[in-house]
Amino acid sequence: MTPQPIASAWDFPDGVTYLNHGSFGPAPRPVREAQIRWTAELQRQPMEFFVRRLERLLDESCTALGRLIGGDPRDLVLVDNATMGMNIVAASIDLEPGDEVLLTDHEYGAVRRIWQRACRAAGAELVVCRLPWPLNDPGSGDRLVEKLASSITEKTRLVVASHVTSATATILPIQAICEAAARRRVPVCVDGPHAVAMLPVELDRLGCDFYVASCHKWLSAPFGSGFLWVRRRHQPQLRTAITSWGGSVSGREPSWKDEFTWLGTRDPAAWLAVPEAVAFLEEYGLERFREETHRLANYARRRLVETIGLEPPLPESRDWYGPMVTIPLPPSPDTETGHGHTDPLQQTLQQRYGIEIPITGFHQHRYLRVSCHLYNTTDDIDRLVMAIEESL
Ligand SMILES: Cc1ncc(COP(=O)(O)O)c(C=O)c1O
Repeated sequence: MTPQPIASAWDFPDGVTYLNHGSFGPAPRPVREAQIRWTAELQRQPMEFFVRRLERLLDESCTALGRLIGGDPRDLVLVDNATMGMNIVAASIDLEPGDEVLLTDHEYGAVRRIWQRACRAAGAELVVCRLPWPLNDPGSGDRLVEKLASSITEKTRLVVASHVTSATATILPIQAICEAAARRRVPVCVDGPHAVAMLPVELDRLGCDFYVASCHKWLSAPFGSGFLWVRRRHQPQLRTAITSWGGSVSGREPSWKDEFTWLGTRDPAAWLAVPEAVAFLEEYGLERFREETHRLANYARRRLVETIGLEPPLPESRDWYGPMVTIPLPPSPDTETGHGHTDPLQQTLQQRYGIEIPITGFHQHRYLRVSCHLYNTTDDIDRLVMAIEESL
């Protein structure tokens, strides 16, 4: 039997060109089937499932995830998404009046809002560091780290930085950021939803204190699966965003994870299907996935830069971006961006051409953000280039 092409694991409706795996990454069929099987098992015998099996099954999910991201599964808890993880960290850091929380100016809107609220409630200050941008010159990475480190003061209680940024799709030199913060004895919380599967995260070597992520992006696990990794010394201080029983369901030895395992009665199928998502990519070959999708992103970048004629903000390098790239667009009178706002060009691409792709905004710049996953082809990119030629 001839093997099926990998793209056949996804079922997009006819006429849709999906170039937004970075926002909402649909799961391939084996992962969706695993999720359905787990829900069916729960429904068949809930007592057996919740009371006697669930904790062990969650351990297995953490083990598979831990292997992928190079982190000890004992330091990982499953959460719904990166947003929930970040809320837990914000609820767990004791801020005093006058304290500072330092964010980069690339942080995701909801993340900035979480820390604005936490700082306001404590009388602390949110400090947003404007990093150098664009990053085309040699030495840009060092300058970026120096700029962020120079914003650390004796009042800084936490640095929050993305591993891969949202609007600008940039891989930040996160290990160097963690090292710079550690020299000042300031903990770092990494916002990492795009990095999972896109990069070998290597959590145990990264040097951060907290790492939050969603697994529904590049890993293509079900929506509603994410994790929070916490350095051991911070684990006792961790507080849930949701208060429930706080003990082991099956009567195991107490652990810091107990607060997070049972958030009231709920269907954990999305969490339990995470190992299937890891297996799907491992079977294809993680490095092959990274290499092929980056190559397609580069094809998109070259063709779009040629068509639009504006200089991209990053050098052509896997050090700076993976399968997701941003291409500068000319300014538009309507440059407002953010949640609930859709750029008119984004609407045109969807309505006239069936192309799902976000237009992002960063300071005064406007970008087309192209995500390439295993189901995307050069034909998708050629369709996008043609649509852009006609629309601009
Ligand atoms: C950098 C970054 N952080 C956090 C989030 C929030 O992820 P979620 O909505 O899955 O919680 C996103 C979502 O796109 C993101 O790009």
